[in-house]
Amino acid sequence: MIPVITIDGPSGSGKGTLARRLAEQLGFHLLDSGALYRLTALAAQKRNIDLEAPEVAAVAQSLNVRFDPDGAAYLDDACVDSVLRTEQTGAMASKIAARPDVRAALLERQRAFATAPGLVADGRDMGTVVFPDAPAKLFLDASAQIRAERRYKQLIENGLSANLAALVEEIQARDDRDRNRAVAPLVPAEDALVVDSTHLSIEAVEARMMEFIRA
Ligand code: CDP
Repeated sequence: MIPVITIDGPSGSGKGTLARRLAEQLGFHLLDSGALYRLTALAAQKRNIDLEAPEVAAVAQSLNVRFDPDGAAYLDDACVDSVLRTEQTGAMASKIAARPDVRAALLERQRAFATAPGLVADGRDMGTVVFPDAPAKLFLDASAQIRAERRYKQLIENGLSANLAALVEEIQARDDRDRNRAVAPLVPAEDALVVDSTHLSIEAVEARMMEFIRA
């Protein structure tokens, strides 16, 4: 069986960075599942399809995407990396991610990332729904304030504009939607190691995760 390591957690908890670092250390592939929800939202928008319309599931099913080895995302052969990471796209992704038909349409596509030598999968339901048999499951959390501050820094570093107070509100709204939705709500898998990174550096979290994976 292909070894899969799942990392779930709320927006801005640092799971994207950790997933990339763990995948590098282990020489594993990487699945940024949030990018698939973001790409679906962008593809629907591009086709002028309302995010509540039934056609969004078909858009998810037939998504024409690829990722560069460095993670840059292409939709219909056009690089969409900068628009993909905006808060606006994140909010659209969170809306369509609450739909069971969209989640079902993306399920097999996500599982197909699990190829040799192994996979690190980053998302909200990697350990609970997509890879329930994964041998190592991690759940990364942090306070909403610190997550907003990290996201603010990230956006500024990427040359995008940002407002910290608005980010705290957006993160809380997205948390509420992700945790309280009827389908695949954001909760740690029963057998997940939960790490709160509020007062921990990336290096400290990485060390704790590697210790858990190797145990
Ligand atoms: O980087 P950030 O955590 O803010 O966002 P993301 O991981 O790219 O995910 C964007 C949105 O997609 C989230 O707010 C979730 O609602 C949704 N998502 C999901 O429902 N399931 C996943 N496996 C990944 C993302």
